[in-house]
Amino acid sequence: MKGIVLQGITKSYDNDVILDNLNLKIPGGKFFALIGPSGCGKTTILRMIAGLEIPDSGYVYLGDEDITHVPVNKRSVNTVFQSYALFPHLNVFDNIAYSLRVRGLKNDIIQQKVEKVIRMFHLEQHIYKSVRQLSGGQQQRVAIARAVVNEPDVLLFDEPLAALDLRLREKVLLELIELQDSLGTTFVYITHDQTEALTVADQMAVMNQNGQIEQVGAPKEIYENPKSVFVANFVGTTNIIQGIMTQQGDDWYLDVDKMICIAIKVPVDFEIAVGEDACIGIRPEKILISKTMLIGFSNNLSGKVHAIVYQGRFTQYNVRLDNGYILQVFEQNEEHFTKEVIDYDDRVYVYWQKENVVLLKK
Ligand SMILES: Nc1ncnc2c1ncn2[C@@H]1O[C@H](COP(=O)(O)OP(=O)(O)OP(=O)(O)O)[C@@H](O)[C@H]1O
Ligand SMILES: [Mg+2]
Repeated sequence: MKGIVLQGITKSYDNDVILDNLNLKIPGGKFFALIGPSGCGKTTILRMIAGLEIPDSGYVYLGDEDITHVPVNKRSVNTVFQSYALFPHLNVFDNIAYSLRVRGLKNDIIQQKVEKVIRMFHLEQHIYKSVRQLSGGQQQRVAIARAVVNEPDVLLFDEPLAALDLRLREKVLLELIELQDSLGTTFVYITHDQTEALTVADQMAVMNQNGQIEQVGAPKEIYENPKSVFVANFVGTTNIIQGIMTQQGDDWYLDVDKMICIAIKVPVDFEIAVGEDACIGIRPEKILISKTMLIGFSNNLSGKVHAIVYQGRFTQYNVRLDNGYILQVFEQNEEHFTKEVIDYDDRVYVYWQKENVVLLKK
């Protein structure tokens, strides 16, 4: 399956540089998610892959072929938009058949291809309904079916689930994963919802508000080893702590306001020196909270419970450390052991291992 390569892409609108020398490799046959804050340029990237927009400079490759200037209808790429962009005056069948007719395929072939995707997307009961009579979720299925029927090398999705409620979104996400598995087509899925990206993607790229790619990797890699403060904050929740690097023997510590000292593990390839400013991230679920003193942790600090928020699957404790910093801790709400009761204003200890601390670029 063909992948996409964006090479040295620059794009401006009205002298406003949106993308500046962007490079991105999207692997073939995989589910690739692109996430970033609103306005960072995600749709612009998608439109360039689709051919709806031409970069000011740089190249778009589909497999080995330079498609930078290939017209939309000559690219083996189809897009599913957030708005679905269905033809309101046509029924489900004709919406799906539309592009096949434009391509001049014979009627019996069109019939066969459309029926196949109708079955695939469970739209049999709606085949002759006007798309205006369908629910949001059903319209969305038609939009995906209409893209799939062309059997493109690449399917692009621009926040296709944004208009659906949470339950339906989760359901359709799972269907999309199955669809990608069964078709093997290259999927490029953009969203500003990090949970969606973590769920669907084999690989993902995180963009910052300046239109730069901050990190590319598997969801687990991005979540557990974010490289920058931006990525750590954008994907999931993280405690970010700033301080100064110190060393005792071979062990590294982050000195925070000369009040607390956090043991960290510095990766071999991370260039940092004693005395430098640094930022670290610790995921709230990696931290243990208790009223009793425990041993065996490379980090233990004390503080006071500042807030308790019940979140269903877990409880969030905000602990005010002795230096005033508020640390977020997530504790799973498991019922099968006797748990100590922690209340507002209680004095507590928080624990975590240095392996769970990540050093971040600012
Ligand atoms: N046709 C256009 N003319 C002028 N400016 C544009 C045009 N299209 C996009 N922009 C600008 O380019 C920037 C990036 O837009 P883009 O739609 O790619 O963002 P996005 O990451 O998809 O955001 P969202 O998550 O809100 O959809 C924005 O500042 C937007 O205003
Ligand atoms: Mg967009």
